[in-house]
Amino acid sequence: MAILPILTAPHPRLTKMSRPVERFDRALAELAENMLETMYAANGIGLAAPQVDVHQRVVVMDLHQEDEPPAPQILVNPEVLQAGAETATMSEGCLSVPEAYEEVERPARVTVRYQDLAGVTHTRECTGLEAVCWQHEIDHLDGVLFVDHLNRLKRDRIIQRLVKEKRLARRARDRAVRPAA
Ligand code: NI
Repeated sequence: MAILPILTAPHPRLTKMSRPVERFDRALAELAENMLETMYAANGIGLAAPQVDVHQRVVVMDLHQEDEPPAPQILVNPEVLQAGAETATMSEGCLSVPEAYEEVERPARVTVRYQDLAGVTHTRECTGLEAVCWQHEIDHLDGVLFVDHLNRLKRDRIIQRLVKEKRLARRARDRAVRPAA
């Protein structure tokens, strides 16, 4: 198991479309295990493979309540089959968009389909936090971040802050490696 580095916005590879998984092999199981470990280490509730720079349609999630035991889920090739007309608004955050939480409106009820690590297909109906998380993670597989659902002004403000933070971090790094005279 390994903790993988998480890409943060703005990053061109977070906007890439991920490929469907065709091989249900040991490498896929290892990727899912590493993604779960990475998600737990970052205190996230969901993580999509492109966030760790793997452009395959794999998502991990754990939506258990604090007083419940962990309930890791591995979703291969997940998709929304049907979305209800009713919408719900929930505050969302993302491991690839640090320190940003904004309300996003999405369908409140979705029917989803996915495969497990053995390649067996499952279909489920989701509501509440689960419906939000599924849609948020499937968006990642299509190169879409939750901030892309916000109005332009809010989105730009978040992205500009992240650009500035990356610039400052890079400068600090450059200074650290410069040999002292
Ligand atoms: Ni996310």
